[in-house]
Amino acid sequence: VHDIISIRDFQVGDFEKIFNLAEEMEGAIKKAKPVLTQRKVAATLFFEPSTRTRLSFQSAAKRLGCEVIDFQDPSASSMAKGETFTDTIKIVDGYSDVIIIRHKLEGSARLAAKIAQAPVINAGDGGNQHPTQTILDLYTIRKLKGDIRKQKIALFGDLKHARTMRSLLYALSMYKSKIVLIAPKGLEMESAMIREAEKRFKVRIEQRKRTDVSDVDVLYVCRIQKERFFDKYEAEKVQREFRVTKDILRNAKKDLVVLHPLPKIDEIAPEVDSDPRARYFEQAQFGVPIRMALLYDLLKEK
Ligand code: NCD
Repeated sequence: VHDIISIRDFQVGDFEKIFNLAEEMEGAIKKAKPVLTQRKVAATLFFEPSTRTRLSFQSAAKRLGCEVIDFQDPSASSMAKGETFTDTIKIVDGYSDVIIIRHKLEGSARLAAKIAQAPVINAGDGGNQHPTQTILDLYTIRKLKGDIRKQKIALFGDLKHARTMRSLLYALSMYKSKIVLIAPKGLEMESAMIREAEKRFKVRIEQRKRTDVSDVDVLYVCRIQKERFFDKYEAEKVQREFRVTKDILRNAKKDLVVLHPLPKIDEIAPEVDSDPRARYFEQAQFGVPIRMALLYDLLKEK
């Protein structure tokens, strides 16, 4: 692959190759030796807020032995003077060997990939896609639970606006995992997205009204994506009402794994953090070896 824009560009076989490479990268992290033999430069352009994705990409690049250039803050870049997105990408393209981009507009990463010669990695384009998060989610499930195909996985939260969920739904359908969607009323997964996955991979996706997770192996939660609501008050209301609590987990399986791309706000009650089934902090750590594997594949000597 030249760019990483959508999870649709991958197949199960590609994921398995990335996982094997990520295992090697975990070894490389322990040895603390650079992996790349040539000097390369990665640019991280984050026009939307980020902690994990930006820092884990930067950490991954540096652990490979790659230099990183970055806006401190997009509002301090020339885009604040009115420079276009296209011109900005053209310039950064000349300064770097790979461009990692996050932007609030759907399709922005695809556009950047058309403009740039260097490979482009989509680190989140609006409510659309977040493919590298999904690859690390799959890696986490495989590490903590084993065979992804055998799992029953609930996607729980704002399925309408969360790009992490759209990417994950598609990838889990490729594996033919059993998928259960649990969303507040009005924040259900777009039906075109469900139909696309069902038709392409010949799976049946369950939509559940009750917040019952007693039969699932993995509970994947995401926050209400407040910044993508027209009515912020409405977002706050659902945020308070739709939560994973000790109560919900009482009937859940003993070996359940609770995942979350983070940041979490109110959708996971604080007492759940100390439940041994809560594994989201570990999940975030897998971002580094996975992003090392992805960057290595794009930057290695061909
Ligand atoms: C997610 C995102 O940015 O889409 N965060 C992340 O990359 N780990 C999830 C979110 O913001 O809710």
